[in-house]
Amino acid sequence: MKISNLLLPAFLGALFLLTGCERPPTDTVQHGFRGTGMVQVYNPRLLAIKTEENEVPASLPAVPTDGPKAGQVYKNVKVLGNLSVNEFTRLMLSMTTWVAPNEGCAYCHNLANLAEDTKYTKVVARRMIEMTRHINADWKTHVAETGVTCYTCHRGNPVPNYVWFKEPEQDKGADFIGDRAGQNLAATSVGLSSLPSDPFTPFLLGELDIRVNGSTALPSGNRHSIKQAEWTYGLMTHMSSSLGVNCTYCHNTQSFSSWKGSPPQRATAWHGIRMARDLNTAYLEPLAPVFPQHRLGELGDAAKANCATCHQGAYKPLNGQSMLKDHPQLAGPGVQTQVASANKK
Ligand code: HEC
Ligand code: HEC
Ligand code: HEC
Ligand code: HEC
Repeated sequence: MKISNLLLPAFLGALFLLTGCERPPTDTVQHGFRGTGMVQVYNPRLLAIKTEENEVPASLPAVPTDGPKAGQVYKNVKVLGNLSVNEFTRLMLSMTTWVAPNEGCAYCHNLANLAEDTKYTKVVARRMIEMTRHINADWKTHVAETGVTCYTCHRGNPVPNYVWFKEPEQDKGADFIGDRAGQNLAATSVGLSSLPSDPFTPFLLGELDIRVNGSTALPSGNRHSIKQAEWTYGLMTHMSSSLGVNCTYCHNTQSFSSWKGSPPQRATAWHGIRMARDLNTAYLEPLAPVFPQHRLGELGDAAKANCATCHQGAYKPLNGQSMLKDHPQLAGPGVQTQVASANKK
């Protein structure tokens, strides 16, 4: 009698705990030297779903690159002027399926006058074309020859699935809780941990030092603290979950800081951090005045990119398949236009 009274809550408790975990079986794959414990843990069931999500859409057939140029035929072409009219039209069609498949050309254009820049979406899209070319031309240290297209981030949505905004300061809450200092709430941005939930502002917009190991003894010289390490761990947790990998994909846990013992992917990630900073400071953040109010964050900032914006759970976006090879028009460097002046038109 007494025992069964205790068993039921115990059983329900266990059920509750277990449903919070991933259903087995999971696979492990060796990733580093033998005996170092460097393995990747995969759940084949979740991997199958991810593989489906990362199929690439079919490209339109290639078109002739000769004939009159878009810059000669159209009225208001600032970036794509050197494309043939055929290539230009093919790119407009592709962009439509990548970014606004339901809304069509009208998402960016006044259909009565395609040359007009009256819709903010067209002004943003022009800057996006420049940004995409910049990534492909100047960030080969990260994206290699695989490169990116609009689809890498947008996947058929006007607003990519994963973007971030600056976080407003949290309410202090009840006095006995004290200052939460930007953490201590389960946040999806950091894998539902209680780590600082916006590691992006300091590290992917600002240039705060990510290293936590001081190279000199305390107290002088070593400004690194446990508090600071928590921000680094917030970023690292985001990086792991965005790529669907464990820490050992980039680190030998014998020493997190040692580059010598780290797999080569860590160097790619290092460049990825610098690339994300560059995209956020040079392209996305300055677009804030172009966006309507309802697209901005609580602090009035524009949506920005982090590792998840492109990777979306895969070790390489779209599992490493290149769409760029079918769209060389997005490979070259763009003509630099200024957002501000483009916006005034
Ligand atoms: C995601 C936004 C977007 C979508 C969707 C889009 N366009 Fe465009 N379109 C642009 C941008 C940006 C430019 C200007 C490019 C430049 O400055 O180099 C442009 C320019 C044009 C021009 C040149 C107009 C002129 O005289 O200056 C034509 C024609 C055009 N688009 C046709 C289309 C058609 C047809 C569709 C639908 C199949 C379409 N576009 C869908 C963003 C878009
Ligand atoms: C690195 C990721 C990335 C790539 C690549 C990218 N975009 Fe974007 N795009 C963004 C982000 C982030 C936003 C801001 C989301 C928002 O609108 O609030 C955005 C917004 C937009 C918007 C505004 C949508 C709206 O409804 O507010 C358009 C249009 C757009 N992008 C077009 C393009 C086109 C066209 C390309 C390819 C030439 C492209 N993007 C490539 C990340 C990207
Ligand atoms: C995709 C690759 C990648 C993954 C996954 C990753 N890291 Fe990192 N980690 C890096 C890179 C790159 C740096 C150096 C960043 C810099 O200095 O700009 C770094 C730095 C660190 C540091 C600071 C080391 C020092 O020099 O003081 C720690 C600690 C750390 N990572 C822990 C972790 C933990 C814990 C995880 C798993 C939750 C993790 N990392 C997952 C790439 C990764
Ligand atoms: C603009 C899109 C984009 C963003 C943003 C981005 N990546 Fe990548 N990343 C790529 C592409 C494309 C590749 C594939 C390159 C290749 O084929 O070698 C890649 C490859 C990688 C790899 C190599 C994987 C392997 O197995 O070789 C790592 C590690 C990585 N990214 C980490 C990161 C981290 C960490 C961030 C955030 C700080 C980040 N990426 C942000 C596009 C992006």
